Amino acid sequence: MAASCVSLLAVVVLFFCLSAHAVDRSNFKTCDQSSFCKRQRELKPGQSPYRALLDTLELSNSRLTLQLINDNNKVRLLLELYRLQGNMTRLKINELKPLKPRYEVPDVLMADPLTEPLSVVVQDENGLVLSLGGAEQRLILNARPFRLDIIEGPQVLMSVNSRGLLAFEHLRARKDTISHKISSTVGSMWNSLNSIFSSKSESDSEETAGQENVGQQIDEIIEDEEKPGMWEEVFKTHSDSKPDGPSSISLDFSLPGVEHIYGIPEHADTLKLKNTDGSDPYRLYNLDVFQYELHNPMALYGSVPVLISHSTERTMGVFWLNAAETWVDISTSSAGQTMFGKMLDFVPGSSEAPQTDVRWMSESGIIDVFIMLGPKPTDVFTQYASLTGTQSFPPLSALAYHQCRWNYNDQEDVRAVDQGFDEHDIPYDFIWLDIEHTDGKRYFTWDPSNFPQPKDMLQGLMDKRRKLVAIVDPHIKVDSDYKIHSEIRSKNLYVKNKDGGDYEGWCWPGNAGYPDFTNPDMRAWWSSMFAYDQYEGSMENQYIWNDMNEPSVFNGPEVTMHKDALHGVWEHRDVHNLYGLYVQKATADGLIQRSGGVERPFVLTRAVFAGSQRYGAVWTGDNAAEWGHLKISIPMCLSLGIVGISFCGADVGGFFKHPSTELLVRWYQAGAYQPFFRAHAHLDTPRREPWLFGPENTALIREAIRQRYALLPYWYQLFYNTHHTGQPVMRPLWVEYPEDVATFAIEDEYLLGKDLLVHPVTDEGAKGVTVYLPGKHEVWFDVHTFEKHDGAQSLYLPVAMSSIPVFQRGGSIICRKDRIRRSSSCMESDPYTLYVALSSQASAEGELYIDDFHSFNYEKKEFIHRRLSFSDGTLTSRNVAPDSQFSTSSWIEKIVIIGGVQQSSVTLTTADGAETALEFEFDSETAVLTLRKPGVNAGADWSVRLR
Ligand code: GLC
Repeated sequence: MAASCVSLLAVVVLFFCLSAHAVDRSNFKTCDQSSFCKRQRELKPGQSPYRALLDTLELSNSRLTLQLINDNNKVRLLLELYRLQGNMTRLKINELKPLKPRYEVPDVLMADPLTEPLSVVVQDENGLVLSLGGAEQRLILNARPFRLDIIEGPQVLMSVNSRGLLAFEHLRARKDTISHKISSTVGSMWNSLNSIFSSKSESDSEETAGQENVGQQIDEIIEDEEKPGMWEEVFKTHSDSKPDGPSSISLDFSLPGVEHIYGIPEHADTLKLKNTDGSDPYRLYNLDVFQYELHNPMALYGSVPVLISHSTERTMGVFWLNAAETWVDISTSSAGQTMFGKMLDFVPGSSEAPQTDVRWMSESGIIDVFIMLGPKPTDVFTQYASLTGTQSFPPLSALAYHQCRWNYNDQEDVRAVDQGFDEHDIPYDFIWLDIEHTDGKRYFTWDPSNFPQPKDMLQGLMDKRRKLVAIVDPHIKVDSDYKIHSEIRSKNLYVKNKDGGDYEGWCWPGNAGYPDFTNPDMRAWWSSMFAYDQYEGSMENQYIWNDMNEPSVFNGPEVTMHKDALHGVWEHRDVHNLYGLYVQKATADGLIQRSGGVERPFVLTRAVFAGSQRYGAVWTGDNAAEWGHLKISIPMCLSLGIVGISFCGADVGGFFKHPSTELLVRWYQAGAYQPFFRAHAHLDTPRREPWLFGPENTALIREAIRQRYALLPYWYQLFYNTHHTGQPVMRPLWVEYPEDVATFAIEDEYLLGKDLLVHPVTDEGAKGVTVYLPGKHEVWFDVHTFEKHDGAQSLYLPVAMSSIPVFQRGGSIICRKDRIRRSSSCMESDPYTLYVALSSQASAEGELYIDDFHSFNYEKKEFIHRRLSFSDGTLTSRNVAPDSQFSTSSWIEKIVIIGGVQQSSVTLTTADGAETALEFEFDSETAVLTLRKPGVNAGADWSVRLR
């Protein structure tokens, strides 16, 4: 008892010490302090020691294998190359004969990617040329030094190892074997895995018959020089025992003609990635960084190892499938500046081009990289989605407004806040409960004195068609009277420490165990805990928030888990960046199961990896109530969106500190136009429900939230589309205007879909904003004033406190619901208003998507999907999914034609051929033609003719 009090106190003291300052950089490693990064970065570009052994080449229909040898130490690697369907190339490099298997990331790819045939076009003693199919693509493999160039026609698209930075630290026996002890349990687990592995490679070798025979004798390995940190690494008070020694990998990619590179979230940095020449590389290592700083390449909570390159000519991507600590160096140079990695000699026209060189370095695992060859931004998104899946389709309510703070104190507090929203006529869908709602930070429980009747509370919300989110973190209080803990322990499902005991660390509950979510049995058990009879007090309008899933370990190295902790046979080092994905997956699966597979889940996570988009939403963690944090929320969510994770938001108001009223209002206005819209605040901050800042500000916040609710049909349609296509919801301008260089570095505005352009006000005291409206042939309409502006210009727009600069693209039709109610569920059957913004050719297109807004029945084709088109003075609604079936009571109550002209008659024709004259009015000042009450069902065929 006393011991647990002491450790809890220590946690609290540590927490408050930390909370006094901005980020304590000394808690986190620099590249120099991460021994593998230092070793890797010491290698300078130049002659690669790797040579391709062409006589080991094997080519089956779609798989090429070849050995590489490092001429310095004679270690051989096995390269595998695949051409994948959809214009991608996959490159895998592993040790030919590793001392034991190296980790290959499971569960991220949707399936084994489909391959296409490869064929050798030319081969000689210097290398070979492979045909990659489509569009005259070739892959040139140069044997000495090993190098790959992907070319299309006369253009080099990408070169691999052109700077000679392929480096593969092979597994080796420790020289002083006495101190190299692997516990007997782990040793025997490895033996069994090894036997599976060797039987697998035996069967593989039939396929690649001869692979071992050609190239014949394997040379004697010459051991590399021992360097510091290879067998043990100490950081602050933490020691990493590194039983397997050095195992890091690295590879470089050169992109001729490219100056703009994006992606590799999560960093609190610009959208366009910076040169890392004079700084640390960007780091990908999921970490709970207390009070993170802006504009630096330090790691944050999530890691998505996907880079996207863009130029006026082409968009491409590199997906580095590795879950270990990873660093990425980026170096962009203008023409003539690079020494290495320029075009192949025989490829013309290269010397003038700029170039970007990228280098990936990971601590363990294998090289498994997907080169996505575009050529357009949409192609890269489609390619990446085909590998890792698309954003899950959330229930509509999850796209509405969320009210959170650490903490709503008790049931009465929840009731009062809920009532406050009604009294102030502000809609909201979800109220959130943070860690204090539990019984002593024991997740899946309720504090008996503050939340004695959770079902009454949930029922009260349900009566108002509202919902609740409760937090369930993945650290489990070590307490033998706590069912969750005792079951995980007795099932032996905790992560183990290096000596084989249950791994324990400090987190909110004090001493905690960490379930091994990499184990499918653990995930299945965790999922089953969300059943209504297991999670007492829960109901169907309760959803879940997974926090601290990096995992956060307050007393661990860099506030996370020791790298030598064990997940079965794998070290934490191998799986680290995947842990959070598994937590969210197990939770989302649990919510699906509790409903018998009927209801769509909603789970918010802080830690992410490639593929996390399949399981729910993400937020950008513990930001601060500062203008800079408001601004950075845009590039942070854009960066996540372009690598698949569309459902992103930042804590509205800022988590730490107390926002000025102006900042709070501006944050609501910005948040209302970001995918995940939730206000949240730290425990120590004064209360900030929207009505606490005087009536004028309440009105401004109310208006921002109401704008969100009116646009929910459009948000919903965008999420339906991203779920099917992988195109991001929130898009950088260059995604839609790939040839307009002026858009390439813009990060203070963005597009929602392709039809709304948002430029939130993010400067204190702003009197105006400069908005760039893209597209030479576009026109844009201010959604508030209907004022028309030409594209391809910068526009100075004066702003007041009520301004949220948003523009609708001429040529688009956006559906809204203009009757705002208590919650999105209350608005489900409400009528639609269509906003038809005409292009310069007086035409427009849009969509309307409707289903039951919460279940998986849309997968059984129970939905309405209509195309709305306006041309030659006629607006029509056509069914784009004739085999789908759904009925709605929603109807079309108004049609607003923006950029219109006066008419003499407006006629509605319904499916049965009946014609009715519609009332209309034209405002010549705004050029808006409003058609009143077409009154047709939103799911029906109809047309409206203007004359
Ligand atoms: C973490 C989360 C924050 C939450 C707090 C308490 O700091 O990022 O959102 O309120 O933990 O659970």
